[in-house]
Amino acid sequence: MSTKLKAGIVGGTGMVGQRFIALLDNHPWFEVTAIAASAHSAGKTYEESVQGRWKLSTPMPENVKHIRVQDASKVNEVAEGVDLIFCAVDMKKDEIKALEEAYARTGTPVISNNSAHRWTPDVPMVIPEINPEHLEVIAQQRKRLGTSTGFIAVKPNCSIQSYIPALHALQAFKPSKVVVTTYQAISGAGKTFTDWPEMIDNVIPFIGGEEEKSEQEPLRIWGSVTDAGIVKSELPIITTQCIRVPVADGHLAAVFASFEQKPSKEEILNLWKNFKGRPQELGLPSAPKQFITYFEEENRPQTKLDRDIENGMGVSAGRLREDTLYDYKFVSLSHNTLRGAAGGAVLIAELLKAEGYIQPK
Ligand SMILES: NC(=O)c1ccc[n+]([C@@H]2O[C@H](COP(=O)([O-])OP(=O)(O)OC[C@H]3O[C@@H](n4cnc5c(N)ncnc54)[C@H](OP(=O)(O)O)[C@@H]3O)[C@@H](O)[C@H]2O)c1
Repeated sequence: MSTKLKAGIVGGTGMVGQRFIALLDNHPWFEVTAIAASAHSAGKTYEESVQGRWKLSTPMPENVKHIRVQDASKVNEVAEGVDLIFCAVDMKKDEIKALEEAYARTGTPVISNNSAHRWTPDVPMVIPEINPEHLEVIAQQRKRLGTSTGFIAVKPNCSIQSYIPALHALQAFKPSKVVVTTYQAISGAGKTFTDWPEMIDNVIPFIGGEEEKSEQEPLRIWGSVTDAGIVKSELPIITTQCIRVPVADGHLAAVFASFEQKPSKEEILNLWKNFKGRPQELGLPSAPKQFITYFEEENRPQTKLDRDIENGMGVSAGRLREDTLYDYKFVSLSHNTLRGAAGGAVLIAELLKAEGYIQPK
């Protein structure tokens, strides 16, 4: 009998849900035993419900094809059969909040890809290499929700993972002012070129809500755990522009940064090269061995060539040089649907399991 933890994917028929299904295929710790979606998909087999809208280039894993999709609103029925839930649904924010809390109240850990709970004070928003200590806030959340085993943990917006790791490695020099422009892939909008042909040969200088998230969410990631939940950091001041570009996957960031104490170029390169977080120390299954890879070539990193580094879980950087207005400028890149979405959430689940927050029911 399998000793793996049983995972349910709520929103498993959608684009991010499909990524979860693919990433958990043959995962050493988790296996997908339940899939839930809207009432429209409920009752069909997974294969039937996703027919004509499987968006990944890899084939649908055999072992999920015959799972009967459940109605996500039947919370007790779905939660009964699983040890944890990954959630990626497209619903109104207040509906997502209520749905995720309902699952957590059944005693089930919920790892969410949605933005609904990113600012709920007692919900940890985690990049496992950067702020694993925020998991401590789960104790406060469990008290509020009246459960000793359930909770919600969330991942941040995909855009920030392209530039926050590189800045975090330099925290000792206290980044004070940061200007970022992100060049974001169309999969971040849940699209491919087939369903968004207007993006071929085009650039759109607007992504709704993205600049606010890109400026504010890093401050929560760098915030601290207090008795009143996570309190965000005041610095650095971050300003962003987020641009949609015609690439399938991968968000590239062009970054300008000033520091309270200016590091040397050698110090920056050394810190990037040697940066390790809790996932690397624990040897988590999805953790990249090298979190930040620096390219010396002046035309790298490139979205198409480098987004899959470390199975899409690594971050790459390049073009570090002194700037005329700020201390330094550089570019950095991450895979938006792997590190930035489902892969980031799976890594959070692995961290939660390794730290004892997720147990078999
Ligand atoms: N795409 C990305 O790269 C990305 C990145 C970061 C975050 N996100 C976030 O992740 C979430 C999912 O995005 P997505 O691109 O995967 O969306 P999507 O492809 O539209 O999939 C949406 C999923 O939600 C389900 N759903 C819709 N209404 C529902 C309802 N009333 N009750 C239960 N389930 C319902 C759908 O089920 P049916 O198939 O039955 O309709 C489907 O499984 C969103 O919150 C999005 O903002 C997406």
